[in-house]
Amino acid sequence: MKSNVLIAPSILSGNFADMGGEVKQMKDLGADWIHIDVMDGVFVPNITFGFKMIKDIRPLSPLFFDAHLMITEPKRYVERFCDSGADLVSFHFEAEKDISGALELIKGKGKKCGLAINPDTDPDVLIPYVGELDLILVMSVFPGFGGQSFIEGSLERIERVKKMRDELAPTAVIEVDGGVNAVNAASIARSGADVLVAGSSVFGASDRREAITALKK
Ligand code: DX5
Ligand code: ZN
Repeated sequence: MKSNVLIAPSILSGNFADMGGEVKQMKDLGADWIHIDVMDGVFVPNITFGFKMIKDIRPLSPLFFDAHLMITEPKRYVERFCDSGADLVSFHFEAEKDISGALELIKGKGKKCGLAINPDTDPDVLIPYVGELDLILVMSVFPGFGGQSFIEGSLERIERVKKMRDELAPTAVIEVDGGVNAVNAASIARSGADVLVAGSSVFGASDRREAITALKK
């Protein structure tokens, strides 16, 4: 799954009243993946959408659907997210006791799996699982809302995760999520990110195509 940096616009920052239109335009604008933020109001203090939304937007884009679950005990639901049309399902280390069990359920559905860590979680917690992962999601803001500022200490965390990935799981990709914009994208990629999530910097831009191109530079 490795390549040059990929851009995954987060539809959390899109217009919910026209989610179909937002998703449809992403391929033409140069996006690589669609990042889908699922929030339950318990793991994070915000609520977004669930299975039905993913199922309904699935036919509207050929892009890779990257579901980021910010929900408690995600093992209960990962299979339903796979069935709804996600190509990859990530959940949070902090939210699940049976991490290997949840990863197995995702793989059992033939989908890619990812594990996310919050900005205050030691990246070393990933070590026992990293060999099972297709993707490591490094949060560069505390999850819950789009439009927050990138936490600067995240660059060093990304470098640590990259070292771990290179040693223990060379095929896994590193995704960075939160506060990514045209100004900081290059340094985030240099630190080791393979996939950049971008919500407000894409959907809030007057020229979204230009915004995506700028993130890739
Ligand atoms: C935060 C979400 C992010 C968020 C990114 O909880 O996981 O994906 O939408 O939005 P920006 O790019 O605006 O920080
Ligand atoms: Zn996200």
